[in-house]
Amino acid sequence: MDKKVVLITGCSSGIGLSLAVRLASNPDKTFKVYATMRNLAKKERLLECVKGLHKGTLDILQMDVTDRQSILDARDRVVEKRVDILVCNAGVGLMGPLELQSLDSMRQILEVNLLGTIQTIQAFLPGMKAQGHGRILVTGSTGGLHGLPFNEVYCASKFAIEGACESLAVLLLHFNIHVSLIECGPVNTDFLVNLQKADLGDTTLQQVDTHTLGLYEKYLQHCDSVFQNAAQDTEDIVKVFLDAIQSPSPAFRYFTSGVVPPLTQLKITEPDGSLCIHAMSKIIFSAEEK
Ligand SMILES: NC(=O)c1ccc[n+]([C@@H]2O[C@H](COP(=O)([O-])OP(=O)(O)OC[C@H]3O[C@@H](n4cnc5c(N)ncnc54)[C@H](OP(=O)(O)O)[C@@H]3O)[C@@H](O)[C@H]2O)c1
Repeated sequence: MDKKVVLITGCSSGIGLSLAVRLASNPDKTFKVYATMRNLAKKERLLECVKGLHKGTLDILQMDVTDRQSILDARDRVVEKRVDILVCNAGVGLMGPLELQSLDSMRQILEVNLLGTIQTIQAFLPGMKAQGHGRILVTGSTGGLHGLPFNEVYCASKFAIEGACESLAVLLLHFNIHVSLIECGPVNTDFLVNLQKADLGDTTLQQVDTHTLGLYEKYLQHCDSVFQNAAQDTEDIVKVFLDAIQSPSPAFRYFTSGVVPPLTQLKITEPDGSLCIHAMSKIIFSAEEK
């Protein structure tokens, strides 16, 4: 049987790396993985993790999702001339008071998370339509389902991805192409290190009012505690990707925690939104609410 050809973006670390390693090391050698990354100088970590288990099942390609030509070049280097499963995973974060974010920083987040994902899908869509099947999996975030203070632009990018994927999923039903979002909460990866963030003590923070600064400090404490106590490991996320990949009729949304997050549930049951916003504020700034 032909191997399933999988192309994954953002494989230099985190979820993309773990997924590439898992699929390329599959004992049945069911998958041929094209692990892409924007900077090939970072490929050693992936090679180290996959060890000798990837004979004939892994190729590493350069791909920057903000660079259309690099996407097309990577696509053209797929030996099988088809991709069965496309995983749009590359993403970056931006954290801090909104009034401090430069247009360039905001643009960069949207370029990677939103337009990068969309233009990657654009490049592979005609091939999937022509071959009459395909899977598109996108690493989503609970930050794309409910708002998070101090993450306005990141959430905007992930909310937008929800809309793009849902719209596409409706159409692609008619082409036997399934779109799935793998909705992650906090995951232990390099994400927090890689994100652009205003750190306490940064001189730029002196430009914001003291009330905002106090709330930002609380948010950072909350964030640290959530990542220390509730973050999932990439292996947990990979299992969910595998569920979606192996399902004959994949769902549109998979929640990596196994359940619909309570705040997402609240948005559905209380659609005017106020309860969700108050609940989020209470969770993060509880001292403020008392
Ligand atoms: N970790 C979490 O808590 C969490 C929660 C929800 C959702 N997510 C989502 O999960 C996805 C993967 O993140 P992660 O947690 O695995 O973090 P990560 O370890 O920082 O991985 C992000 C990956 O995206 C790559 N990337 C960034 N800009 C790129 C570009 N222009 N072109 C191609 N690749 C690019 C990075 O490459 P470089 O090494 O070159 O920067 C890296 O390989 C993201 O979409 C993120 O939004 C993460």
